[in-house]
Amino acid sequence: MAVVISVITQKGGVGKTTVVNALCASLSKRRYRVLAIDMDPQGNLSLSFDADSDNAATIYDVLKGEALPIDSIQRQPVADIIPSNILLSSIELEFTGKNREFLLSNIIEQVTGLYDIILIDSPPGLGILTINALTASDYVIIPMLPDIFSLQGLTLVYDTIEYIQSTVNKKLAISGILVNRYMKRSKLHKEIYGTAQLICHKLNVNLFKTVIRNSKTLAEAQSIQTDITEYSPKSSGVKDFNSLVTELEELNII
Ligand SMILES: Nc1ncnc2c1ncn2[C@@H]1O[C@H](COP(=O)(O)OP(=O)(O)OP(=O)(O)O)[C@@H](O)[C@H]1O
Ligand SMILES: [Mg+2]
Repeated sequence: MAVVISVITQKGGVGKTTVVNALCASLSKRRYRVLAIDMDPQGNLSLSFDADSDNAATIYDVLKGEALPIDSIQRQPVADIIPSNILLSSIELEFTGKNREFLLSNIIEQVTGLYDIILIDSPPGLGILTINALTASDYVIIPMLPDIFSLQGLTLVYDTIEYIQSTVNKKLAISGILVNRYMKRSKLHKEIYGTAQLICHKLNVNLFKTVIRNSKTLAEAQSIQTDITEYSPKSSGVKDFNSLVTELEELNII
């Protein structure tokens, strides 16, 4: 059985896709069997994995019952992936029935035996796609930028997770809040990290000791659809994600 981890926050552009991509690369390097699921109609993760989301079966086809999960998995250098495309945006309108938050969970059940870790990328917002990801997950990673708006958004995402825990998924746990695009020399970033520590302490939530530094290599590797661990093995991005994997191991999450 795989451990299912989703990367969630309602805020756009904070690094959800980047975290899933680079974490997949670091986990694969350590010989974990990893499946990534792209639950974002923007399909950014699929693009960064160089997956085919035009002609091949996508998560949309699988959710609709028109393709089997196993037939939609593409083997890519970074990790295996079930891709997504813009069609996924119509799920909200197409599925209005009871139990619609369990669609992804039912799919994962069919492939969980093949992997050690399943990582889910989600769209910004807390709509039905994100709710499906949370319902199917054991753990959540919440990325945030070292800015005041991200701090402000923490309680909203926390409340959503509490709601999911009290309704459809009791086993869901927050593995931690992850600060992304951190600059060691910035006084503001240090202060924001300190405030995040206080908020996390109050909410009884883990704040990862690992911070992901701002790194143009991370963005470059994504845009040329390459595995960061191959593209720049000594970069700060690879170091930070290795440290995150170690932290997840120490927390007994993986
Ligand atoms: N640590 C980092 N260093 C440098 N650039 C980064 C870092 N993390 C993310 N980025 C860049 O920031 C932009 C937004 O990141 P990303 O797409 O991962 O965010 P997202 O939360 O998935 O966005 P969306 O909400 O639209 O799905 C991208 O251009 C990405 O390359
Ligand atoms: Mg994204």
